[in-house]
Amino acid sequence: MAPRTRCATTPSSGPRARACSRRPARWSRPTRRSTPTPSGRPPLPESKSVPGTPVSAASAIVRFDDVVKRFSTSSGVTTALQGINLAIDRGEFVAIIGPSGCGKSTLLRLLCGLEQPTEGRIEWPGRKGADPVRFGVAFQEHRLLPWLSIEQNITLPKLMKGRTAAQDLERARALCKMVGLEGFEKRLPSELSGGMRQRASFARSLFVHPELLLLDEPFGALDALTREQIIADAERIWMEQRFAAFLITHSISEAVHLADRVIVMSARPGRIAAEIAVNLPRPRTEQMLNPEYSRLVAELRRHLEI
Ligand SMILES: Nc1ncnc2c1ncn2[C@@H]1O[C@H](COP(=O)(O)OP(=O)(O)OP(=O)(O)O)[C@@H](O)[C@H]1O
Ligand SMILES: [Mg+2]
Repeated sequence: MAPRTRCATTPSSGPRARACSRRPARWSRPTRRSTPTPSGRPPLPESKSVPGTPVSAASAIVRFDDVVKRFSTSSGVTTALQGINLAIDRGEFVAIIGPSGCGKSTLLRLLCGLEQPTEGRIEWPGRKGADPVRFGVAFQEHRLLPWLSIEQNITLPKLMKGRTAAQDLERARALCKMVGLEGFEKRLPSELSGGMRQRASFARSLFVHPELLLLDEPFGALDALTREQIIADAERIWMEQRFAAFLITHSISEAVHLADRVIVMSARPGRIAAEIAVNLPRPRTEQMLNPEYSRLVAELRRHLEI
């Protein structure tokens, strides 16, 4: 099945404006192909959404509705985000890519509740009753607390509530193993390399069994080899656990490796310029030789005008 590329909103100007203006779709979603999972779990059901219609409340975990974000500072007002309409399905892996300063981290901070929209709304149709959606975050900087060991940093959500149970430490150790930090559980962040600290931050984001995982360039500071390994690990973990994921990246190959859907943002004020479905089979470690992989990379490069 050929993947489809769509413009999610209509850019007001630029070379893509004409092409996009044919389809001002809202909430539209590329069709996903079911792929078997190595864990033996059945694949998630296909999204029921039809291009141009709202994603059903049953499938979306979170939804941006005409969101605008402005920052007012002493030097003036910056419009970071303009007219953002975006829904993320349960179990869907979404990657966000775009030039520096286009509002990617602001989107993530809005999702965490660290910022509020200036206009528009963020809805959580994926909430069960009064409970908030459980999310894990790995920020652009690792944000590990320097006086806590790696396992204490990973169990921080529990530590802050009181005592950490034996099973929490067990989980922290399992996560350390998963991200290649076995044997470093008792070390302080200062005793780890930059790449190891980022892996610890990634492990911490998984500690809460997230329904929604928010990742802001979590692999940016890693050397190329470690990065390849952790991307493969991240894909495996996602395939086993199937949380919704929102990954900010500057790497086209990372986006194509991990995402079901890549959202391309335009320069400030950030708007959604295009959405590209990635229908490559998983796991994608060997997919770089697939002509479809090269086609998707070329398409993303075109959208990013590089
Ligand atoms: N707290 C803030 N106060 C004022 N302006 C802000 C604030 N946070 C972000 N901005 C502005 O909003 C715009 C978007 O910032 P944001 O950090 O979301 O970009 P980004 O896409 O994540 O960039 P990068 O790829 O470099 O991380 C920028 O122009 C930035 O200066
Ligand atoms: Mg950022």
